[in-house]
Amino acid sequence: MKPLVNKWGRSIAVATSLSIAAFISPTLIAGEAMEVGNVGVQANIAGLERVTQTLVAPPFLPKHNQVAKGEPKIVAMTMEIVEKEMEIAEDVFVQAMTFEGSNPGPMIVVHQDDYVELTLKNPATNSMVHNIDFHASTGALGGGALTNVAPGQQVVLRFKATKAGVFVYHCAPGGAMIPYHVVSGMNGAIMVLPRDGLKDENGKLSTYDKAYYIGEQDWYVPFDSEEDEYKRYGSPAEAMGETFEVMKTLTPTHLTFNGKVGALTGENAMTAKVGESVLFIHSQANRDSRVHLIGGHGDLVWHGGSFNDKPATALETWAVAGGEATAAMYTFLQPGLYAYVNHNLIEAILLGAAAHVSVEGEWNNDLMEQVEKPGPIK
Ligand code: CU
Repeated sequence: MKPLVNKWGRSIAVATSLSIAAFISPTLIAGEAMEVGNVGVQANIAGLERVTQTLVAPPFLPKHNQVAKGEPKIVAMTMEIVEKEMEIAEDVFVQAMTFEGSNPGPMIVVHQDDYVELTLKNPATNSMVHNIDFHASTGALGGGALTNVAPGQQVVLRFKATKAGVFVYHCAPGGAMIPYHVVSGMNGAIMVLPRDGLKDENGKLSTYDKAYYIGEQDWYVPFDSEEDEYKRYGSPAEAMGETFEVMKTLTPTHLTFNGKVGALTGENAMTAKVGESVLFIHSQANRDSRVHLIGGHGDLVWHGGSFNDKPATALETWAVAGGEATAAMYTFLQPGLYAYVNHNLIEAILLGAAAHVSVEGEWNNDLMEQVEKPGPIK
């Protein structure tokens, strides 16, 4: 397929960016008008052990202990901002903006009272100013005010993870750029575990055998009805004007779990074994969703992703508000292929918000069996 550069894109993008500039008050451009924090070492970190976390692409999580060992630490990591064209469905391309090149960005895992120390790099090859707003942090627009980086710059932010739970992070560079960057893929999540681990509804330690991170993304891709195909652009600035028009309909053209329709289905399915407990972390940085594991349940569901609250039990479907992450644990009891979906089934099946979990093991007839095969009505 040839790259489709539409006839009007550039001029519309320029006109739109001018009108946007006109309505963004400078005080809304994070950092430029705010005097926040001090640069340097004023935190209570003397003597704290410092560890580096190597981030990995979702749906996987970085190596971590479920129960913290020892005292709070400084957990340092680096993220590079990557602007790139991404195929989000077969032959559908967007000018994506990402943390570390994936949608969602990588999961960070720490324990409550650890310090998160992020080095955020915006390579000179990028075209836009970016930053990061951590919903897990306190103050300064979630760190957004302290992390604006132009192409060619890097910044280091440290915050104390005082709240236990799973939380969204996202780019928020000011005004209309905030939703644009978020729906161009620039969001992810952090898990802040209680130091003594996750607890079930009775307060007893509850551990998982594996954990997966699913980032749901709503995309708004302009359609060229003359060419009968989705439009393709040369840069985020060029895509902006027409993408805003689709965004304002509030009707996504595509919904993905982990960056592409089918990214977690079929051969790319998540895996588990009968008897294994799996923690599913689900984020949606912009739009409401509702998660359902077809044929299974949420044994333990932390509403709003808050780990210091008692989890709900035996749920069929759990809500994910736009701008939050939730966590659910399930112990698989039957083998087979499970669909993990946004249970607006139009969004799941027609727009793409679906994944699979392939589970190995022995079937339990006590839980379910086909008593009679399909046959003529008697
Ligand atoms: Cu950004």
